[in-house]
Amino acid sequence: MSTTQLETVSSTFFQDVKDGLSKPQKELPSKYFYDERGSELFEKICTLDEYYLTRAELDLMETHIEEICSSIGENTLLAELGSGSSKKTRLLLEHLDEIEAYIPVDISADFLNSTAESLREEFPDLTVHPVAADYTRPFPLPFRDRAERTVLYFPGSTIGNFTQDRAKRFLGRMAGLLEPGDGFLIGADRVKDINLLEAAYNDKDGVTAQFNLNLLRRINLELGADFDLNQFKHHAFFNEEKSRIEMHLESLADQSVSIAGSTYHFSTGETIHTENSHKYSREHFENLVAGLFTIEKEWRDRYELFSLFYLRPLKD
Ligand code: AVJ
Repeated sequence: MSTTQLETVSSTFFQDVKDGLSKPQKELPSKYFYDERGSELFEKICTLDEYYLTRAELDLMETHIEEICSSIGENTLLAELGSGSSKKTRLLLEHLDEIEAYIPVDISADFLNSTAESLREEFPDLTVHPVAADYTRPFPLPFRDRAERTVLYFPGSTIGNFTQDRAKRFLGRMAGLLEPGDGFLIGADRVKDINLLEAAYNDKDGVTAQFNLNLLRRINLELGADFDLNQFKHHAFFNEEKSRIEMHLESLADQSVSIAGSTYHFSTGETIHTENSHKYSREHFENLVAGLFTIEKEWRDRYELFSLFYLRPLKD
C-alpha cells in the first residue's frame, strides 16, 4: 500500500513533555491525546448526549450537503487534516462524484492505513492516498498537479485547540499552500450558553475525564514515567475572557513524578493545562481569518451551535 510518510513523533513527544512540565503553569500539548486508547475515548465522546459538537456538525452537513459539495467542485483534490474516519467524511465522499483524490493527513500512520483501507473498499472508484504527517508542519500534497483545485478539509473545530496566535500562524501557512481558486472547508464551534459548553466537557459518565487522564497513562507507557492516575483529577471550565473551554489535570496531593531521570513536583491543587477549545462568534472568526482568507460561505446547524465555513485564500 502506498503512504507518504514523514518523520516519527516519539522523540518530540519526550521533548514536548519535558518543556511543558517545566513551565510555571504546567501544560501538555493536546495533540498527544490521540494514541490508540485516546482515539477510542474520543470516538466515545462524540456519541455522548452532552457532546453536541459532532451531532451539530453532522446535522449542518446533512442539511447543506448539496451546497457544500458544489463549493468543493469537481476534479478536486480533497485533503483532510486529521483522521478522516468519521461519518462526516463519508457523507462528503458519498455526495462528491467527480473527485480527483482524497488525501487524509494524520500523525498516526497505523490509524491512517486502516482508515484508507476501509474507504477504498467502500469507495472503489476513489483514489485514497494517506499522508502520515503532522499537519501543523509542512506536508506534501500528492496528485495535486492532476486536480483542478485543492480543497483542505478541517472539521470538528480542531482549530479551537490553537491559541489565537498559533491559529493565525497555522491559517497563514494554509493560505500560503493554497492558490487562487482553491478552498478551505473548516469547522468551528460557536460561543453559546456557558452551561451547555461546560456540560459538553464534564459528561456524567466521566468519559472526558478518562480521555484527559489518558494523557498521563500514555506518558507512563511511552516515556516510562510514574504518574499515579488516582492522584490527578479532571477539571474543565469555560474561560469567558478567552472564550475557550480549558481542560486541566489537578493534583490531589503534594507529589513528585519522575520521567526518565527528571523529577517534577506538583503541589495540591496545582494543575497541568492539557487543552484549549476556543468558541467563536462570527465576528471573532472573521478577525481570525482577516488578511488571509475571505469567508465565501457559512453553514450552521438548526440550533446554531456549530459553523462550517468555506474560505478562499486571499492573494496579494
Ligand atoms: C477534537 C479538539 C474538537 O475540543 O471539543 C473533546 C477535543 N476534548 N472533549 C474539542 C475534546 C474534550 C475536541 N476537538
